[in-house]
Amino acid sequence: MNEIAQELNRQIQQENPHIYELLSDLGKDLYFPKGILTQSAEAKQKAHRYNATIGIATEHDQPMFLPVIQETLINYDPKNLYPYAPPAGKPELRHLWREKMIKENPSLKEKSFSNPIVTNALTHGLSIVADLFVNENDPLILPDKLWGNYNLIFGIRRGAKSITFPFYTKDGTFNTAGMKEAILSKKDHGKAVLLLNFPNNPTGYTPNEQEASEIVDALREIAQQGMNLVVVTDDAYFGLFYEDSIKESLFAKIANIHPRILAIKADGATKEDFVWGFRVGFITYACEHPAVLTALENKTLGIIRGTISSASHPSQTFLINALQSTEFEAQRAEKFELLKKRACRVKQILDQGDYNDAWGYYPFNSGYFMCLKLQGVKAEALRLHLLEHYGVGVISLGDNDVRVAFSCVEEQELKQLFDLIYQGFKDLIGQKI
Ligand SMILES: Cc1ncc(COP(=O)(O)O)c(C=O)c1O
Repeated sequence: MNEIAQELNRQIQQENPHIYELLSDLGKDLYFPKGILTQSAEAKQKAHRYNATIGIATEHDQPMFLPVIQETLINYDPKNLYPYAPPAGKPELRHLWREKMIKENPSLKEKSFSNPIVTNALTHGLSIVADLFVNENDPLILPDKLWGNYNLIFGIRRGAKSITFPFYTKDGTFNTAGMKEAILSKKDHGKAVLLLNFPNNPTGYTPNEQEASEIVDALREIAQQGMNLVVVTDDAYFGLFYEDSIKESLFAKIANIHPRILAIKADGATKEDFVWGFRVGFITYACEHPAVLTALENKTLGIIRGTISSASHPSQTFLINALQSTEFEAQRAEKFELLKKRACRVKQILDQGDYNDAWGYYPFNSGYFMCLKLQGVKAEALRLHLLEHYGVGVISLGDNDVRVAFSCVEEQELKQLFDLIYQGFKDLIGQKI
């Protein structure tokens, strides 16, 4: 059992053993991990200069937002705000999101897939996947660069056994061979859940066309060998593709490729439309048989009804309004360009070679983040040092990796941010610049 969970249990037991006895097995296992949120909370206190920890985007010292959403908040009809929304979400929103999915993923035109069902954003969509498809000890296969919350969603809540494989090959491409090997290591189990997240948190990497085709071929081959696969694409940062990567979701490429493969797309407005607190996401299934899609939809509704009952109505209304606005695309494109410029500027700064003795960086081409790979200094030590001495917040991941959210730092400030990180590195390694 996790140490933090043990400590929480000890405290409850000490104060009132009866309450401890009342806890379910899951209740005993649960804890709030010291992860990105804890590091972000510290940064909120101390990172008075740059806070590059958080998974949102900012601009002019406030959250980035689309005027089509912000400017209309006083204009809504009460009937579109106050009543319950249906458990599956507002039909109009589901329809609009489906249309958007097809427009942005042209391969989906020929595929059979469900209507998106509204979730309380992506975390909830992923937890529905866990509830529907993961039994205790079922393998969850995922690359070793990952969003830490998967552990709570799949591991702690449902008892999935995580099997990770190295994200990159030596050449800095996506490691499809490692993925295939990891899945096939569980062949005797008969089934596995594969979880892929592109643009990736934390690396900011999305595969190119060739890598994507290799992933699809590998999955098809595994299915042909008789293994059943749930392939979940976590498309939280969908659309933020800046360079030579695929521009469609892998969901579109994996949908309907083999009867033993169930492709599931978890996506939402959270990151793509800069509405993190609205909590609107979607879960979508791909299968050639409409009856299966209907049954899965009904099972999903069962979970929604039994947990949150229905998602927020106002948030769905705001999103409908935005999706229908003629200015929506242009405003999104504007924010896209802004984030793309930041990503390119980061690469330019790092490629100047000023910091080569301190770190390398993992290939990135998309999303909100990029990751440094430190040489000779521990990531957590550098994070704390930067907070204490320079008012700079970054996220430490494992021993050597530092995640920098360029989504939260203005383009013209990026050079100084990396200079300060370098300064902090040099302090720790005991040299002066
Ligand atoms: C990869 C990834 N998936 C899912 C989420 C959760 O998204 P939401 O806020 O929509 O639940 C995040 C949030 O940071 C994320 O980085």
